[in-house]
Amino acid sequence: MRKISRFSPNSSTVGHVAVSAHYAELISNEDQHMSHWSDEHAHDYDERWGQLAFHQLIPQLANVRPGHRIVEIGCGGGFLSLCLAQSQPNVTVLALDPSAAMIERAHKRQQQAGIGPEQLSFALAGAEQLDVMPASQDLIVAAFSLHHWQQPEVAMTRLTQALKPGGRFWLCEDLNTPSFGDLDVHQQLKMLPGIEALLRDFGFRDITHRTHHTDEGDFLEVQGVRPVQELAL
Ligand SMILES: C[S@@+](CC[C@H](N)C(=O)[O-])C[C@H]1O[C@@H](n2cnc3c(N)ncnc32)[C@H](O)[C@@H]1O
Repeated sequence: MRKISRFSPNSSTVGHVAVSAHYAELISNEDQHMSHWSDEHAHDYDERWGQLAFHQLIPQLANVRPGHRIVEIGCGGGFLSLCLAQSQPNVTVLALDPSAAMIERAHKRQQQAGIGPEQLSFALAGAEQLDVMPASQDLIVAAFSLHHWQQPEVAMTRLTQALKPGGRFWLCEDLNTPSFGDLDVHQQLKMLPGIEALLRDFGFRDITHRTHHTDEGDFLEVQGVRPVQELAL
């Protein structure tokens, strides 16, 4: 039986679709192995790491403002989704995850918190299936999920189109987990150079980063802004 680690649930190999030149340089052979999250791993992950004090800081770190329209990608059991939805007045959050077990847990959390669907909704979908009105979102958040995306370039195209000009993509990754030796995820997308290259490739500007050293781990936060002028994607 595979050892369960935070970042290596179940393995499968999925080939890449076209990768832009700069980003392609950063993709090693290992990165062609992606992760698929089984129900069993979803349960274990959410029990152990699904509810962090760091999650509660994210709305402030990501500068959520009143009335923001937010998409959260790879929401897992939905604890951060609740934090985002409750962080400011009139915020709406659409939270996606491709794991049915994760979405089930997220729905339960939402019911327990008494948050209505007008404020927070969940969808069973990967980042690659993001389907919202173009230029409709103020903020897209991905906590510890980017390196799991199976086709980051497909997802980034959709994500970029979903953001309003001037809208922001905010993400975090855990720096404590091993960066190599695990073939199940995009290793480069756990680290700053790979993340920055991906964001630059998709036209993001004003890319900033911070590292947070906490009792729960060392977390890298990266943010980029979609340029105001229309992108030719
Ligand atoms: C490490 S967990 C993080 C969950 C949650 N964001 C949190 O902070 O607790 C990674 C999540 O990414 C999800 N995931 C896997 N493949 C994905 C994809 N292609 N698109 C979006 N999310 C994906 C998994 O189902 C899982 O819930």
